Amino acid sequence: MFSTLKPVETDPILGLMAAFRADPNPQKIDLGVGVYRDDHGHTPILASVKTAEQQYLASETTKTYVGMAGDEQYNTAMSQLILGDVYAAVSERFRTVQTPGGTGALRVAAEFILRCNPDASLWVGSPTWANHWDLFGAAGLPIREYPYYNCADKDLDADAMLAKLATAGPDDVVLLHACCHNPSGMDPTFAQWEAVCDLALERGFLPLVDMAYQGFGDGLDADAAGVRLLAERLPELIVCTSCSKNFGLYRERIGGCAVLSASQTLADTVKSTLENTVRGIYSMPPHHGAAIVGTILSDPELREQWSAELALMRDRLNTLRQLMSRQLAQAGAAGDFSFIERQKGMFSFLGITPEQVARLRDEDSIYMVSSGRMNVAGISHDNVDRFAEAVARVLAQD
Ligand SMILES: Cc1ncc(COP(=O)(O)O)c(C=O)c1O
Repeated sequence: MFSTLKPVETDPILGLMAAFRADPNPQKIDLGVGVYRDDHGHTPILASVKTAEQQYLASETTKTYVGMAGDEQYNTAMSQLILGDVYAAVSERFRTVQTPGGTGALRVAAEFILRCNPDASLWVGSPTWANHWDLFGAAGLPIREYPYYNCADKDLDADAMLAKLATAGPDDVVLLHACCHNPSGMDPTFAQWEAVCDLALERGFLPLVDMAYQGFGDGLDADAAGVRLLAERLPELIVCTSCSKNFGLYRERIGGCAVLSASQTLADTVKSTLENTVRGIYSMPPHHGAAIVGTILSDPELREQWSAELALMRDRLNTLRQLMSRQLAQAGAAGDFSFIERQKGMFSFLGITPEQVARLRDEDSIYMVSSGRMNVAGISHDNVDRFAEAVARVLAQD
């Protein structure tokens, strides 16, 4: 049976991680892996998470199954976090299942979409998070692309995006990033969200919003403005969330798949379909991460502490963005790097060639994926100068 298999190429990001680990240079810089880091290069456990975890462990009485939809206290708290004030108006039509991470949410969404409509296609922006291709492809959804980021202008290609989406129809699901677009860091303006919303109404396509970074861009509410607009105005919507980044719960695998339906009756049918979909994949989600998030969101003090810790992560990213673009200018790097300040979240394309990426790695031990996508959180106040000088030098060599 197994002899038919061919070796699968290592994910480039895993190869990059291994090369970084093996590099003896004490000044090496890792801008590859997509996790948040503090100024010492650590991915800390939030204090609010530690407290909530201790409280939960002290009060936990059973390890029995949690049910296909997961922890309903968590599901409600997450729905409120995503939708804010809009939740009250749509709660009867909004149903959530807890999932293993944002990736699990996207996979549940993919299978759910195919159960709703076997002829459905998924449209992703170009570029999008590489794993979107793998996981939606593996689920059997045909994938099409719409223009998103214009590498030359370092900006959203809004006209091209809207023109393409104007050709989508009722069999199409359009994937949008709620905020902190991965890999470009370039988010739509509110007016552009409105234009997408108008098109969804006019053309009848279904938006699927991937929300993996709520609170990492401009704030918990500001980052949800687009998704809230869609929830207010559209009959149907899917939102996939992740608590990996904003709660720092990467390895606990906690997220959610939320669906807005046209009526309460349909919402109940959707919920049972989501549960049945989950049953056929992993049966029930893990509980630990949901217990932590549920505890934090339902305790005013812990919630405030978490919100402050999240603000620190966000402020650090935004400060680093300013520092990087200024230091690059000061180091005389060829080109205008002010776009780094305008973009949001952990990622931006530096805008250099794969050859230049390789030179930064070989000559300066600065690691990033060959597309030039960098994780801003990998920079620190101590190494930003070294980074800027290395980039300036590599750009000057061409
Ligand atoms: C755009 C996007 N969506 C979803 C995810 C899923 O995150 P996780 O499965 O770790 O919760 C990520 C993680 O990097 C992401 O960048």
